[in-house]
Amino acid sequence: MKEFRVGVVGLGHRGREIGKLTALFPGLNLVAACDIRPHNWYETQWLSTAPMAEMFPDAAFYEDYEKMLDEANLDVVIVETGADIHCDFCCKALERNIHVFAEIPLVASLEEAERIWKAAQASSAVISVGANPNYRKFTDKLVAFYQKGLLGKPYCMEAEYIHPMDVKLYGNHLYENGDWRKLLAPIRYCTHSLGPLQKVMEQELRYVSCFGTGAHAPEDMGQNARDDMQCAQFQTEDGTVVRLMRNGRCRAKIGHHNYRAFGTEGYIEMINRFDKPVIRYNSTRELENVLHEIDGSNMPEAYEDNPDALHGHGGMDYAMMDDFLNCLRENKPAISVKEGIAMTIPGIYAEESAKQKGRVLKIKYPWDEDWSCDFEPADQ
Ligand SMILES: NC(=O)c1ccc[n+]([C@@H]2O[C@H](COP(=O)([O-])OP(=O)(O)OC[C@H]3O[C@@H](n4cnc5c(N)ncnc54)[C@H](O)[C@@H]3O)[C@@H](O)[C@H]2O)c1
Repeated sequence: MKEFRVGVVGLGHRGREIGKLTALFPGLNLVAACDIRPHNWYETQWLSTAPMAEMFPDAAFYEDYEKMLDEANLDVVIVETGADIHCDFCCKALERNIHVFAEIPLVASLEEAERIWKAAQASSAVISVGANPNYRKFTDKLVAFYQKGLLGKPYCMEAEYIHPMDVKLYGNHLYENGDWRKLLAPIRYCTHSLGPLQKVMEQELRYVSCFGTGAHAPEDMGQNARDDMQCAQFQTEDGTVVRLMRNGRCRAKIGHHNYRAFGTEGYIEMINRFDKPVIRYNSTRELENVLHEIDGSNMPEAYEDNPDALHGHGGMDYAMMDDFLNCLRENKPAISVKEGIAMTIPGIYAEESAKQKGRVLKIKYPWDEDWSCDFEPADQ
């Protein structure tokens, strides 16, 4: 079985966790790592009992990304830099025909969407997008429910990703290596919500209108204060509506992710309140149209009996990495660059719509014939 020489760039909290995760997969050999903050490699950090350098004694550490690409003889690069700086790292690897596993959101602008789309077409390497919510139990249930015809055509869906920003919960750990969590417009982090829903959407999102609340208590962020909440509504050409709420500031102690899908034949939801996630569903296609309720924890059913899978977001990260490796062996992406762009750039258009007081904008994709990097109102 082929083994892959892996390098990881970005050793913040997420990069270290994903780096450690590779050790559970015999096909993924972490041989190099890169960060501009060397202490993240050489010193023990949050959620670790030893420095990464001790956990991976044979791996080489670099402070310069291009040097790592040029010298470490990599098959795969895992891009774990801040959420607004992925594209350049991905493209530099693709240009060298090195496979890429890239975190989401995939790109930070329409120009970057065009660049990564072209780089992926031109490369002989595969780029796969690390969208772990696409591997949660709910996503599997949603897809199966849809494929069995129990949902029918989904005509209205909603999601919210509410991440409490209480420093008492996390200390300063989430901010100590970068400030993207403080600076990124909340709606730009739409990937975790849209990704699962897009697996059953029959058309691409084409229109968006978004509003932001403004910042009501900006004292801890000064002039960089973002909206406390942003709410976007998207629509496809055939009328399907997707509603999405994302927070900047939030004091609510509730679960992070909620999803609902209304279809012509049925309904399915994942509601996560107070750490008690449930999945509920009903369908007119069943003999008795009752509301079923099951546990909504993240662990995908296929991994329930695998103790290794407990590592990382209750099973999603393990399932994602397993799928990535299996697909790489077949030289194909687990989640394609097209899917990655489709779950990312609606948030870029939504941020612009919020800046224009909710103006409805037309969403285009780099594979459209009329693609352009300009924002256009829907009525033009
Ligand atoms: N899917 C999930 O569950 C999940 C959870 C958390 C984070 N994430 C994603 O993971 C990514 C990383 O998140 P994080 O919280 O660890 O971010 P972070 O900002 O804390 O860490 C990013 C790291 O990248 C390094 N870096 C920045 N520029 C660099 C450069 N030029 N060369 C080398 N290293 C550089 C920084 O020094 C830092 O250590 C983000 O994209 C985020 O969206 C995903």
